[in-house]
Amino acid sequence: MSGPAIDAARLQADLDALAAITDPDRPWTRRSFSQRFLAGRDWLRAAFEAEGLAVRLDAAGNLIGARPGSDPAAPILMTGSHSDTVPDGGRFDGIAGILCGLAAIRALNAAGIATRHPLELVDFLAEEPSDWGISCVGSRGMAGALSPADLARSGPGGETLGAAIDRIGGCVARLDTARRGSEVAGFLELHIEQGRVLEQAGAGLGIVSAIVAIRRYGVRFAGTAGHAGTTPMAGRADAGLALARLSLGVRDLGVEFAGLGRGHFVATIGVSTLLPGGANVVPGAAEAVLDIRAEDPALLDLFETRLATLVAACAAAEGCEAAPVDEISRSAGHVGDAALRDCLSRAAESRQERWLPIASGAGHDTMFVGRFAPAAMLFVPSVEGRSHCPEEETALPDLVRGATCLMEALLLRDARA
Ligand code: GLV
Ligand code: MN
Ligand code: MN
Repeated sequence: MSGPAIDAARLQADLDALAAITDPDRPWTRRSFSQRFLAGRDWLRAAFEAEGLAVRLDAAGNLIGARPGSDPAAPILMTGSHSDTVPDGGRFDGIAGILCGLAAIRALNAAGIATRHPLELVDFLAEEPSDWGISCVGSRGMAGALSPADLARSGPGGETLGAAIDRIGGCVARLDTARRGSEVAGFLELHIEQGRVLEQAGAGLGIVSAIVAIRRYGVRFAGTAGHAGTTPMAGRADAGLALARLSLGVRDLGVEFAGLGRGHFVATIGVSTLLPGGANVVPGAAEAVLDIRAEDPALLDLFETRLATLVAACAAAEGCEAAPVDEISRSAGHVGDAALRDCLSRAAESRQERWLPIASGAGHDTMFVGRFAPAAMLFVPSVEGRSHCPEEETALPDLVRGATCLMEALLLRDARA
């Protein structure tokens, strides 16, 4: 079956233009809330407007482009992803979903196709862990899941998360206006896979069956700072060594839990800080952020209990103290909506594309949108599975395939009563 065609050259040009808005010394970086991020959003706003979308920023800081439907009473069909990045690695992670959504809308415009449902294209605010610790800030806001404690979190320069949302154009005082519900009939997010399953299977598309549940914890050890040259090895209370023990202990626990046969399980320490951080100072304190993910959420409770014991043991072994483990955030996993997954698979098959069901070890805004609306995800292959690094890559034909499937799935959902 043929239908409206994605303009591959325009999609490539959009990807190049938005990716080029990067911190120059560390491509591909556009950290949420930064000036660079706001420059990216200026570019997106203009690109949305060029396709005739009515653009607004909601109170939670989400950039939304709206295309009217032919039936003003019909609920909204939403698509989108995020334009913020991790440090160094956001050439496709996030922007692929927004720009493939834009390419789908451009194809509908070019073919003169009106949908019955209004369409919304969203750039969710701060999907990646922000400098305030939490991730999926905008989609949490839409789901009513930004707590006062989240908004009070302190970030760079002591700015609270709430103040940062206001600074980039949101409005925390009216956060309730960002909440969405039954006026959204469905959400589809296209994303790069960030793993090797599709590439190894030679499949062009993945339809996500489930997204892992994620928890993040902050750990802090306090020891005794001292002169690195004059403090004897015996009797030190080196907080860095307590953290070193923790790193290995978390790895061992992760390996143990992954081997339980209860689905995907991973445990990572991606942030660790020695304080005060001098080459000639025995660390007086050490901090870490842990990221724990499981397909079976019950394992996260079990892990949390074991973690508390591990942290206490690491501190005691080095003569240090440990603060109580701080739960920074938790997100429940998500199982894709069956009817929307069906639209995606029928869309793929209508274009003779091979697809696989696939579990997501990465977190996505879909987890939070899925709390208030039916939601499902479509993956496109990642070259060598590389992601969250500068080498992240997805081939243009795969992005075109993904944008086409996204567009056809939106049309299939639109045609449903
Ligand atoms: C998002 O990239 C995540 O999985 O942390
Ligand atoms: Mn990411
Ligand atoms: Mn992402």
